[in-house]
Amino acid sequence: MHRKEPLSYDDFQWTADWIMSHTKHRPKVAIICGSGLGLLADGLQKPDSFPYSDIPGFPQSTVQGHAGRLVFGELKGKTCVCMQGRFHMYEGHSLSKVTFPIRVFKLLGVDTLIVTNAAGSLADSYNTGDIMIIRDHINIPGFSGISPLCGANDERFGPRFPAMSTAYDKGLRRLAFDICKTLGISRFVREGVYCMVGGPNFETIAEARLLHKLGVDAVGMSTAPEVLVANHCGMRVFGLSLITNKVVKDYEDKEAVNHEGVLGVSSMRSQILRTLVTELVGLMDVNNNNDAE
Ligand code: HPA
Repeated sequence: MHRKEPLSYDDFQWTADWIMSHTKHRPKVAIICGSGLGLLADGLQKPDSFPYSDIPGFPQSTVQGHAGRLVFGELKGKTCVCMQGRFHMYEGHSLSKVTFPIRVFKLLGVDTLIVTNAAGSLADSYNTGDIMIIRDHINIPGFSGISPLCGANDERFGPRFPAMSTAYDKGLRRLAFDICKTLGISRFVREGVYCMVGGPNFETIAEARLLHKLGVDAVGMSTAPEVLVANHCGMRVFGLSLITNKVVKDYEDKEAVNHEGVLGVSSMRSQILRTLVTELVGLMDVNNNNDAE
C-alpha cells in the first residue's frame, strides 16, 4: 500500500513494525546494492528476504539489474540488511520515496550505511573496473533545492540544518584501504569525489567537461539522497563506486556508454566487491546484538 506524501514518522514506524514482526533479524548495518551489484546480498547467512512489493509502504524498483527485495541476514556474524535494488529519482519517485528505506532502517536500529553504485569516471587516471572509495560527493539536484530533506523537518530523525562535512566516515575509509591492501587489490582502488546527476540520460560532452572541471572523479544517478538522509539521522556512511565506463569528454571519441555495458563491468567485479564489503563489515565495530537465532 502506498502512503500519502508528505510522509510522517508514523509511516516509517509502520513499515519498521511490519518488518520486525516478519523477521527476527535486527540489523546494525544496511547495504545498498547498486546496478548489477546484487550479488553482495547472496553471502548473507540465515537469510530472510522480502520482495519490495510485499513490504507495506515500500516503493517498487523498475530498473533492469535491480532485483527489488530486502534481504536480512548475517555477514561475518554481524546482522545486516541488504537492499537488492534501489530507487532512483529518474524512475519518477519523489526523493522521500527514494530515501524511505533509510529512515525505516534507522527505526530498525541500523547505525551504519554502506552504499554502492555504478559510475562513469571523469578522472583521467581512472580505468573501467576500478573501485572508488567515495571521499565526498557533489549533489547536483541539491543545488536547485531538490533534496529529500526539503519540507517540514522532524527532529526525531535529525536537525533542520545538518552538517555534511563529514558525510563519508574517515575511519571506515581507512579500514577499507587497509583491507584492499590485504586483498592485494590496491592497484585498482581509488578514493575520489562522486557526483550525482538526475539522469536517466548519460552526460553530453559539454556536461562531462564541466563536471571534470568541477573536480568530479565519478558520476552517477543515485546515492546522494540516501547519504543525505542517513547523515541527517546520525548514521555512519561508507560508499563505493564501481567505475563501469569512462565518460566521453572528447568530440572525436566514437565510444558511447550504454546500460548493458555498465551491467557487464558490474558483474566482472561483483565478486571482489562482495569480498571487500564482507571484510569491511567483519572488521567494523558495531553494537551487534545478534538477536536472530
Ligand atoms: N554517467 C552517469 N551515470 C552512470 C554512468 C555515467 O557515465 N555510468 C554508470 N552510471
